[in-house]
Amino acid sequence: MGSREATGGYDPSGIDLDAWTILEAQLEATIPNYDRVNKLMTFGQDKRWRRNVRNHAEPGMKVLEVGCGPGSFAEDLVGLEVTCLDPSPEMLKVAKKRVDSARLARGEPPADYVEAIAEAIPLPDNTYDVVFCLFSFRDFQDKRKGLEEIYRVLKPGGRLVICDAGKANWLHGFAGRIWMATVVQWIARYVTKDKNHPWKGLANTYSHYGTNGYYRAMIKDVGYEGVQGRLLLPFAMASRFRATKPKQ
Ligand SMILES: C[S@@+](CC[C@H](N)C(=O)[O-])C[C@H]1O[C@@H](n2cnc3c(N)ncnc32)[C@H](O)[C@@H]1O
Repeated sequence: MGSREATGGYDPSGIDLDAWTILEAQLEATIPNYDRVNKLMTFGQDKRWRRNVRNHAEPGMKVLEVGCGPGSFAEDLVGLEVTCLDPSPEMLKVAKKRVDSARLARGEPPADYVEAIAEAIPLPDNTYDVVFCLFSFRDFQDKRKGLEEIYRVLKPGGRLVICDAGKANWLHGFAGRIWMATVVQWIARYVTKDKNHPWKGLANTYSHYGTNGYYRAMIKDVGYEGVQGRLLLPFAMASRFRATKPKQ
């Protein structure tokens, strides 16, 4: 399906295990500065995107965040039954502290935490009303397998919402790669005060990332319906995909 044209030759369907293992170590190294660098590199838009995605859940729903990282999104999921999944024990440790203290302050029970990859979710079929992926879809080793597993754990009629880097076409992708290779690197160096900061390697995941059209087609092919995927304005730096598991 699709091609590598829009990525400048990279494979948009996934990342090999060696590259992914390096990526995980780089992601863990971002933890102390994760929110600050994100805020600066997106001109503060990351907060707005998270709010936009969060609004897809209604009070009382059972939701799963795949690739919860340090809990930047999950801590603000209010009035919901929350499960946070991530393959990194370090990320889960930070997320648990952060998310559960926010939940406790709101008088809510703790969330559940699962150490796993999206491609092999150790959770039962037909369980969740909504599955969220924020800035983690880009990191999946096998995008299609991850989408299939999410489909399996969604309830019939349940919704998938993905928010990740924006890439409309090869030109937009080319501009994004320049942004990742320059401005993001300067910001990360300024914040971390370290010229070997982990964002050096993280720019690779953007290079591998496919276009909206490529993933819309993949999501449809897995069996989801009502598939939408578009750039989020004003800066077109992120894309949001929405899709539903058919009722039967
Ligand atoms: C950039 S962080 C995103 C954190 C958070 N969701 C947010 O809103 O900022 C990406 C997370 O995806 C996780 N991840 C990487 N590969 C994954 C996979 N195959 N399945 C699930 N999560 C994965 C990483 O461990 C990391 O914690």
